[in-house]
Amino acid sequence: MHLLDAMTREGFEEVVALHDRGSGLRGWIAIHDTSAGPAFGGIRRFAYRSEAEAMMDCLRLSRAMTDKCQLARLPAGGGKVVLLDEPDVDWDRAYTALGRRVEAMGGRFYTGPDVGTGQRELASVVCETRFATDPGPKGPGELEGCTAEGVFRGMEAALQHLDGKLDWPTQKVVVQGLGAVGRMLAKRLAEQGTHVVGSDVDTDRLEAVVAELGIEGLDSTEVLHHPCDVLAPCAMGGLIHDLTLERLNTRVVAGAANNVLARTLHGDRLHDLGVLYVPDFVINSGALIRGTVFHLEGHRESVSAIGTRVGTMVGEVLEEASRLDAAPTRVARRLARQRLKELRDPAE
Ligand code: NAI
Repeated sequence: MHLLDAMTREGFEEVVALHDRGSGLRGWIAIHDTSAGPAFGGIRRFAYRSEAEAMMDCLRLSRAMTDKCQLARLPAGGGKVVLLDEPDVDWDRAYTALGRRVEAMGGRFYTGPDVGTGQRELASVVCETRFATDPGPKGPGELEGCTAEGVFRGMEAALQHLDGKLDWPTQKVVVQGLGAVGRMLAKRLAEQGTHVVGSDVDTDRLEAVVAELGIEGLDSTEVLHHPCDVLAPCAMGGLIHDLTLERLNTRVVAGAANNVLARTLHGDRLHDLGVLYVPDFVINSGALIRGTVFHLEGHRESVSAIGTRVGTMVGEVLEEASRLDAAPTRVARRLARQRLKELRDPAE
């Protein structure tokens, strides 16, 4: 693995190898680009098979954050922390040490929650740095609500794009994953009279949300091929790959989960099959917008304003994709990279 070559290829600014003697913490911080403003990216803690795999994930995720910031036209760039979830790490001390490291970067990088790092862990980080998302009342708050509203408004934009009109009571939406975001999304949809079908591998949660919202429940093995207008992946990534693609029975795929497509070419295949895929990094940016505006501009942008922003962004990407007859994921990525290039080389 040639780290410097990988950095040069994609224009990374900085990669930090982390080791804290006191806690046993090991991991990476990657800062991809700060041309538009400080880098933003959460803390992923995961049991990687090797440090090289962790490093590559860190590079990939921070690169993707730059695209996300560019598409949302935020004065920010992409960064990420990846921690190796290894035995014998003293995690309270580890997150405190990480907080000190982030503080030492002086505001060049802001961090927050991600897979494996929730409120408890963040509470230790924010003890040591101003540059992390405070999970308490002093923080941006309502992050999941912003993500859910963005997904809802992005779905509206997708259906408008396809049908030229919006009529929720005639639409059926399958929500995969009724966790923080999925539950709020299901609620928002049900309030519009949409036929909502929810699914979760956690059957207690499924039962509770179905009873609370009065929606239909579905076994998690049925989600992919259940006939619907919109499939909303709100659980985990990698859902759409060679084996699942042909089984889909939906007009639109639009949800909060990151990296729903196993590979970009699966987006091309969906496009060929006539399924509209709304790129995850466009539609799930509600929490990022809320956090970035809070840290850089000092106020909490309203949930509805964030929803409007995301809906507009989705509409723009889908328009451009139609014009070019290309998969929206490719078009979105091209747009983001074009904007980044203009920022980096304004004279060109
Ligand atoms: P969460 O952990 O609260 O909820 C995920 C839910 O999915 C859980 O209830 C889990 O039991 C369920 N689940 C897992 N595998 C499943 C499967 N195969 N079928 C059905 N259900 C399954 O997570 P949260 O915060 O709601 O996020 C959902 C997704 O959106 C995640 O992929 C996350 O990375 C992504 N995301 C979340 C953001 C946020 O603001 N929370 C922002 C951007 C992306």
